[in-house]
Amino acid sequence: MFYTHTCGELNIKNAGQKVTLCGWVQRSRDLGGMTFIDLRDRYGIAQLVFNMEADKALCEKARSLGREYVISASGIVMERSNKNKNLPTGEIEIQVEKLEVLNPSKTPPFTIEDHSDGGDDLRLKYRYLDLRRTINKNNLIMRHQVARAVREYLDGQKFIDIETPFLIKSTPEGARDFVVPSRMNPGQFYALPQSPQTFKQLLMVAGFDRYYQLVRCFRDEDLRADRQPEFTQIDCEMAFVEQEDVLQMFEGMVKHVFRKVKNTELPVFPVMKYEDAMRLYGCDKPDLRFGMPIIELNDIIKGKSFKVFDDAEMIGGICVSGASEYTRKQLDDLTDFVKRPQVGAAGMVYIRHLPDGSFKSSVDKFYNAADLEKICTHTGAAEGSLLLILAGNKNKTRSALSALRLEMGARLGLRKKEDYKPLWITDFPLLEYNEEDKRYYAMHHPFTSPRPEDIPLLQENRDLSKIKASAYDLVINGTEIGGGSIRIHNRRLQESMFRAIGLSKEEAEQKFAFILNAFEYGAPPHGGIAFGFDRFCSMMIANEDYIREFIAFPKNNAGRDMMLDAPSEITAEQLRELSLETKREK
Ligand code: AMO
Repeated sequence: MFYTHTCGELNIKNAGQKVTLCGWVQRSRDLGGMTFIDLRDRYGIAQLVFNMEADKALCEKARSLGREYVISASGIVMERSNKNKNLPTGEIEIQVEKLEVLNPSKTPPFTIEDHSDGGDDLRLKYRYLDLRRTINKNNLIMRHQVARAVREYLDGQKFIDIETPFLIKSTPEGARDFVVPSRMNPGQFYALPQSPQTFKQLLMVAGFDRYYQLVRCFRDEDLRADRQPEFTQIDCEMAFVEQEDVLQMFEGMVKHVFRKVKNTELPVFPVMKYEDAMRLYGCDKPDLRFGMPIIELNDIIKGKSFKVFDDAEMIGGICVSGASEYTRKQLDDLTDFVKRPQVGAAGMVYIRHLPDGSFKSSVDKFYNAADLEKICTHTGAAEGSLLLILAGNKNKTRSALSALRLEMGARLGLRKKEDYKPLWITDFPLLEYNEEDKRYYAMHHPFTSPRPEDIPLLQENRDLSKIKASAYDLVINGTEIGGGSIRIHNRRLQESMFRAIGLSKEEAEQKFAFILNAFEYGAPPHGGIAFGFDRFCSMMIANEDYIREFIAFPKNNAGRDMMLDAPSEITAEQLRELSLETKREK
């Protein structure tokens, strides 16, 4: 080994020892007769000191070092006269006697500090430098700890880690597949897995009753802060279980990981039905760090000749305590917010219940004080509250109210960094009707079982939109961390499901013969879940859903690897070998 100690481990107890450290030059300072260098490695920073009087040549050598040079320095650990209490190694410094440059460095294109001056793409291009920054380095170390705690828990519960293939036939999970041409089978393609869904089910048929895998998944979908084209799942499956067993097992896992990594005890996770989440929060992943539920106002607010409300399918509001004195500008700001295309409301109505008990609204023309009082009583808008109201088509209004609620939560500082509010969402609809395609799609995926009481509806192919699924999502602070379901394990029922989503018998046979056949050889009842590992890490560690910071080599928002400059063209020779060139020429 090149070194005797790491840069982060030395302290006053090491005073007097002769040590050798290796690392990168974080910065250097010349103070007349002395030169100080902060030497950094993965474990921390140590201060090296060079004394002009003691060794002029050595000191000059130290002065010639640039930022990010890789060096080795040997010397004696000394107690510092000027101690730095903020640094674990802040009580000591190393009086250097020998210095070796292991490799010089060009000046990095951005500063390697907590607050870097590099733009996103530049930092991704030089990701190996970006990862030297403490914040990124710590994110990856924490990610490792999360993975370790996950494995520890699952191992303790008798789950076994089994790898599944990457070159497969496409499994529908709702996104597009990335495909890989096969040289040996001209004109044919593998698909990269969107998840190992069917394989883990086949492992249940094979008798491995508890499976897990930290596995890469690939989805060709539009990217956002919480989505990458390749991401990692904690993928799990269990045989001989009901929904409640799965929820218990994985609530246990999440609690274990929080305990181990964050030293935080999470409370029992509440369970909320999809329908209630939509009604109360306008979305299926509510942030429960604050209240402010949606209050439906149809019955109380219509019939006062205000056309916007009278014509609306739904009128809903949220009551913001302590905000009755919002200024005109603040209200205009909020109106602009709800009118953004991403939020999609046509406008916003407000009612202030002022501290003196009076009412003031943007619809005073249609509603007198008694009307406003009635509305405020109905919504529980006490004195000092502000009622924000949106109206229109039901789904759009709910989703706009959900966005407004989150915005108000953020503006009022209610989405606290140190708070974690997990919950299970259950009872999702099994199928979703798509007006454009005039067909149903599986809301989760087509292997999800209906709730036992709704199985006859699927078998008889009726009231499809009323069928509820044995599916569940884990949500933390408004982010969907994981999702799963109890699966269909009966060939007939699986065929009914394929029929419901518009697959003909032949298509189903052609695409899914392998799993349909497997169901005829003793498939046990089974169910499972997959967590988005990157999201879990980013949620738990930073309490936000910006997953890129928790992936060593992520893609940018256009799906490009800026460092490799991928995707890229391939040579004519490669195209020919893959039988792709002929297609292009045609
Ligand atoms: P689902 O599609 O809900 O379920 O995915 C499970 C979890 O994976 C995460 N996730 C993503 N994370 C980052 N980038 C993406 N593009 C991305 N897409 C999904 C989410 C999500 O909750 N096979 C089923 C699971 C099952 O039924 O057991 C599945 O993949 O956190």
